[in-house]
Amino acid sequence: MSKIALTGIKPTGIPHIGNFLGAIQPALELSKTCEARYFIADYHALNSTKDPEAIRTMTVEIAAAWLACGLDPERTLFYRQSAIPETFELLTILLAFTPKGLMNRAHAYKAMLQNNNEAGRDPDDGVNMGLFTYPVLMAADILLFDTDLVPVGNDQFQHVEMAVDIAQSFNHTYQTDVIKLPQALAHETSKTVVGLDGRKMSKSYGNIIPLFAGEKQLRKLIMKIVTNSQGVEEPKDPDTCSVFSLYKCFANETQIADIRERYLAGGMGWGHAKQELFERMNEVLTPYRKRYEELMENQDYIHQVLKEGAEKARPLAAAKINMLRDIIGMN
Ligand code: TRP
Repeated sequence: MSKIALTGIKPTGIPHIGNFLGAIQPALELSKTCEARYFIADYHALNSTKDPEAIRTMTVEIAAAWLACGLDPERTLFYRQSAIPETFELLTILLAFTPKGLMNRAHAYKAMLQNNNEAGRDPDDGVNMGLFTYPVLMAADILLFDTDLVPVGNDQFQHVEMAVDIAQSFNHTYQTDVIKLPQALAHETSKTVVGLDGRKMSKSYGNIIPLFAGEKQLRKLIMKIVTNSQGVEEPKDPDTCSVFSLYKCFANETQIADIRERYLAGGMGWGHAKQELFERMNEVLTPYRKRYEELMENQDYIHQVLKEGAEKARPLAAAKINMLRDIIGMN
C-alpha cells in the first residue's frame, strides 16, 4: 500500500520562486508516488490575521497557485482545513495529552518570547493561545489522516516531532497503536534558491521573485540581481554568481554547460547574462502564469475543487474520530 503524505499550506500570499522550487515542486513530485493530502491551513492563519477578506483572498490565491503548478485534485485530496470540523475535535482531544512544558519549548514560541524580551516588552506580549498551541493543531491536522510522511521545511521538523510525542502519549495511555506515528520529510536542500541580493530567497528579506510575475516585472527584477563590478570582457566565476545560480534552477544540462563556458571565457557582460536568465525563466514560467491567471478568472472552479476535496476527506476524518471517541469513552 502506498504511503500517506500530508502537508499544510499556509495561505500567505502568492508564492515566490523559492517556494516553488523548494516546496511546491517536491510536494507535487511526492504526490505521484504517495496518497497525498494537501490542505490550506486557514485556521492557522487566523492566529495572526484577523482580516476576513485577506483570509478569503489568500486562500483562493494559494489554492490557484498549487493547481496552476500541477496539483491534480483527482489524485490528491485538496481541501481547506476549516472545512474539516473533525480537526478541531481532535485538537481538543490532543490538548489533554500535551504537556504545557512541551509547548514552552517550541522554537516558534520561544522566538516570540525572545523578540519581546529584546524589545523590553512583556514576554507574552502579542502571543495568543492559538499561537501558543499551534503545534497541537498541526498535530491534529497530521494525525487525523493516518499520515506517514510530512513534507516540510526544516523549520517545521520540531512541530512534527511534537506530533509524534503527543501521539505516543495517547497510544501509551490506552495501550493502543490507533494513532499512526508520522515522519517529517525534508525538502531537498540542494535547491536553496538565492534571492535578488544573493541571500536565501525569502519574503522577510524582501529579495523575492514572485512565481507569477508578469514578463515586464520578471525582467525588471532579474535586472536588479546584485552582481560584482567586473567589466564585459573579464572572465567571470559562475559558481559565486546569483544569476548563474538561478539559471541552474531553470535550465537543462546542455544550457547550463553552455552558459558556464561563456562566463569563464569572458566577453559576456552582466546585462547579457541577466537577459539569458530572463529568457530561460520566462519560458519555463509562462505556462504556469497563464494557468494561474485562468484559474483566478474562474474562482468558482477553485471553490468547487476545495469543496469536493473536503467531501472526500470528511468521511475519513469522521471514521478516525469515531474510533478515538470509542477509546476515550465519549461514545
Ligand atoms: N506549520 C506549517 C508551516 O508553517 C503549516 C502546517 C499547518 C502544516 N499544519 C500542518 C505542515 C500539517 C505540515 C502538516 O508551514
